[in-house]
Amino acid sequence: MAESNSRNSADASAAGTGTSRDSAAEQRSGVRRRGMLGLLGGGVAGLVAGGVGGSVAGAEREKRRTAAAPRASDLTYDFEGGHQAGIITEVQDQMHFAAFDLADDTDRDDLIELLQDWTTAAWRLVLGGEVSARGAFGGGTLFPPDDTGEAFGTGPEGLTLTFGFGRSLFEDASGRDRFGLRRHLPEHFSTLPVMANDFIVPETSEGDLCIQACANDPQVAVHAIRNLTRIAVGKASIRWSQLGFGRSSTTTAEQETPRNLFGQKDGTNNIKADETAALAEHVWIDASNGPAWAVGGTYLIARRITMTIEVWDSLQLGEQERVTGRDKHEGSPLSGGTEFTPPDFSKTDDRGNPVIDERSHVFRAHPDNNGGVRMLRRGFNFVDGNDAQGRLEAGQFFIAFVNDPARFSRVHRNLARDDLFVEYLKTTGTGVYLVPPGVRGADDHIGRSLLTAG
Ligand code: HEM
Repeated sequence: MAESNSRNSADASAAGTGTSRDSAAEQRSGVRRRGMLGLLGGGVAGLVAGGVGGSVAGAEREKRRTAAAPRASDLTYDFEGGHQAGIITEVQDQMHFAAFDLADDTDRDDLIELLQDWTTAAWRLVLGGEVSARGAFGGGTLFPPDDTGEAFGTGPEGLTLTFGFGRSLFEDASGRDRFGLRRHLPEHFSTLPVMANDFIVPETSEGDLCIQACANDPQVAVHAIRNLTRIAVGKASIRWSQLGFGRSSTTTAEQETPRNLFGQKDGTNNIKADETAALAEHVWIDASNGPAWAVGGTYLIARRITMTIEVWDSLQLGEQERVTGRDKHEGSPLSGGTEFTPPDFSKTDDRGNPVIDERSHVFRAHPDNNGGVRMLRRGFNFVDGNDAQGRLEAGQFFIAFVNDPARFSRVHRNLARDDLFVEYLKTTGTGVYLVPPGVRGADDHIGRSLLTAG
């Protein structure tokens, strides 16, 4: 079997699996995946080896080729761990996010069954498998196939699936405790205040559940959401969703900082996967800030932010840099140095004015000006066509992970109040979801700690 090109070491070590970075690397799919493939059955094993329907000679050739040079498409991340994947995982290139509403007649048992079914499917999907052993072609010609088939043969492409729970799962808008979960609602699970330039469309906001699918191939991410949605039929349906491309942040020091649709380097001062202390302080829920069932989890904040691209494009370069607080080419702070030099907010020009404007985005968002609060950003660009005037309906699907939504609100309030940048942004969709801890072992399922909490 071809070795996968897994990069799960940072996840596994930070997830508290009791392994160092190096030993976590040894757990790469070579070990973990063989175990899982046994669990999933030969159909998936064959698929992951890249040999479905091929001749023995062809399969042998493929094995030799992949042994010599692992294909990027074989990249896999562990589904199992103390934290879910897709948070500190090196940001992939593509995203499909979907929020779901549970049907009115869905009860607690249905919810548990759905989370179990999603978990089983997720184990398979992140390995590049089909959604079931019968898959797209093995169920006979008289039945609709279990798997929709569009990702057949693509490889796992670094797929991660991150599941979250909306506040309405614990208590809906009319105060109903539909699933007997209200008593487990974390004290910190707040909603976000309305901000300047919020044009929130309620129909494309919030939701009972969410799934963030990230991969390096858009078809793999879309396939995952599509098939998980099919599994939910009768119990839950998509409330809103968003496709994203071109990551707009970095989560490892090795990743080059990408540029967002304003052409800015985005993700420079983000929390990185190896900043264990910062992750513990700002991202992971622990016993000091959440209930026992949520420890190891985090909150996913989603904001669909439209960027007024055409207006921005007409700004002089100097003004674009003043609004950001960073040099557009280098990404360095206007106070000098290189991209990763910390900004010096006390530096002034000849006339005594601060060189980094106090209303710039970097000034308003920086931890020094927000009581030390940081967040892990993991957003994606989107372009959803154009409006009647031909302007792009484009922006950033901003995603941040924090261990308390109020910490995000604090920074956002500081931006919304006086950030020059806000003039070029319009938020149309929003959601806060508690991402429970990861799955441990084949008997576990997403959300089990919540649904079995006393
Ligand atoms: C479309 C919307 C946005 C765009 C295009 C954008 C762009 C940027 C850019 C270019 C940087 C500087 C480079 C970096 O350190 O990553 C930055 C930094 C940052 N942004 Fe945003 N941003 C957006 C929205 C937001 C929102 C809604 C928040 C949170 C409320 C936020 C929080 C931050 C933080 C915390 C930093 C790091 C500041 C620092 O420590 O220096 N951003 N953003």
